[in-house]
Amino acid sequence: MPDTENSPNHVAIIMDGNGRWAQMRHRPRLMGHHAGARRVQEVVRACPDLGVKYLTIFAFSTENWKRTQTEVAGLMKLFKRYIRREAASLLEEGVRVRFIGDRVRLEPALVDLMDGLELLTADNDKVHLTIALNYGGRDEVARAAKRLAYDVSMGKLDPKSICDETFPKYLDTHVLPDPDLVIRTSGEARISNFLLWQSAYAEYEFIDTLWPDFTKDIFAEVVGRFGTRERRFGAVTV
Ligand code: FPP
Repeated sequence: MPDTENSPNHVAIIMDGNGRWAQMRHRPRLMGHHAGARRVQEVVRACPDLGVKYLTIFAFSTENWKRTQTEVAGLMKLFKRYIRREAASLLEEGVRVRFIGDRVRLEPALVDLMDGLELLTADNDKVHLTIALNYGGRDEVARAAKRLAYDVSMGKLDPKSICDETFPKYLDTHVLPDPDLVIRTSGEARISNFLLWQSAYAEYEFIDTLWPDFTKDIFAEVVGRFGTRERRFGAVTV
């Protein structure tokens, strides 16, 4: 059993490199996404032993609609299949699932499955898995600002009381702690509009491995490295 005392409580992952993984094998990009979905389950299952309580994964961004119709439709089908296939084991393994992102553009059948999985796993507490679907950090902040402005206009919120503790209550992630560690696979060093507000003090790890090759052992290694980092949150160490 690894030493989990210094483990990150909340890990967020930008799962990048599925397309390249498939292209390297001369296979359609969707095959890379299917291989990526299998890694999702492996990484979720590794969390309890590694002391990771919250895991947030970037499954589909607000920008991903620009991909071909075939790829977008294939991804939506994969999300539905994942929920149908994995719901029972997620429940059994104590995983509470939540979704963040704007559901308005998603097809009703998928939204029904997402709602159902959230409800089904609502009493679980072993691992909190959050799946970002049609999610964009700027979009989330804009939607939060809209809700906040509405509360002000209804007299429910005093503008003078708005501060950096009030605002995150309007974000999709309002029930989650901020991520301690953000991992991006595939060698790209960008954050691509992921958890912009929440990651203000997160540590970042950019890993060369493509997401479908990201094993639980690599995950354990990255999580283990986090324990050796000194986090100061803007202060100085004495
Ligand atoms: C980025 O790789 C990956 C995505 C846009 C989709 C992520 C989806 C999965 C891992 C599938 C399963 C998810 C769940 C929750 C079941 P890319 O296609 O941009 O790769 P590339 O940069 O090599 O083209």
